[in-house]
Amino acid sequence: MGRLDGKVAIVTGAARGMGEATARAFVAEGARVLVADVLEEEGCALTAELGEAARFCRLDVSSEESWAAALAAAESALGPVNVLVNNAAINDFRSLLDYDKQSFQRVLDVNLLGTMLGLRYVGEAMVRRRSGAIVNIGSVDGTRGANGYSAYVTSKWAVRGLTRAAAMEFGPRGVRVNAVLPGGVYTAMGNPNGLSVEQINRGYTNVPLQRVGMPGEIAQASVFLASDQASYICGTELVVDGGWITGIYHPHFPGAPGDQGYGG
Ligand SMILES: NC(=O)c1ccc[n+]([C@@H]2O[C@H](COP(=O)([O-])OP(=O)(O)OC[C@H]3O[C@@H](n4cnc5c(N)ncnc54)[C@H](O)[C@@H]3O)[C@@H](O)[C@H]2O)c1
Repeated sequence: MGRLDGKVAIVTGAARGMGEATARAFVAEGARVLVADVLEEEGCALTAELGEAARFCRLDVSSEESWAAALAAAESALGPVNVLVNNAAINDFRSLLDYDKQSFQRVLDVNLLGTMLGLRYVGEAMVRRRSGAIVNIGSVDGTRGANGYSAYVTSKWAVRGLTRAAAMEFGPRGVRVNAVLPGGVYTAMGNPNGLSVEQINRGYTNVPLQRVGMPGEIAQASVFLASDQASYICGTELVVDGGWITGIYHPHFPGAPGDQGYGG
């Protein structure tokens, strides 16, 4: 028996990366999934592989009309939607001094307004049926600052606030809303320079688990929050970051990576 048997899910940004891993994990747990993305070729290749349990729909999360069409496509092809994973996002690495209004706004349009529109349209259908679970993908960058990421950081802080506000409104109507906050993950976004896992892991010295996360590891958090095993969890954040935001290693105290003081 799968943990998501009988569920119908929309996963945004599911053509690649963490969204793809989430779609795969959901299907493996018994869900039917609408793979929703702007990348048609990759999305269709994935649904062809996943078979009857998955359908592709072109969705630009920043477009209101696009959401209404995606919801209708999911409901007619797969049935009433009871899970939404707001995963699609973009980053735009540049100094704050190099942003103009339009480029900063574009990041907010996809990452923040895209999440809001998902809550608005799919949440409305769930609230009407008084049943559903929504997972918003935030980031550890929504818990702190980061150089070169000002628009992204702003959007991900806001996704946390939106998650809590939605949980307050939807909870009484039978819909749970939670967030997953990944740390560094080995995807196109998390590895823009195309480094190997070994190369990228060398930069993870301040992460207790000393390595980058894999998309499938983050997907499991969404599986849990979407499943009935999380039936009493609403408005929370599940940090999946290998311990990254736990603290900062003090160079002069024992127990830091490579230190043998606590038994190696
Ligand atoms: N990779 C990381 O290190 C990391 C860390 C923390 C959080 N996250 C978050 O995880 C989620 C997935 O990121 P990823 O690493 O898989 O990135 P990715 O770039 O590999 O995948 C993002 C997907 O979103 C899609 N997308 C972009 N704009 C869209 C739009 N307007 N409408 C619909 N789809 C759109 C892309 O086509 C792509 O398929 C994002 O919310 C991201 O912010 C990633």
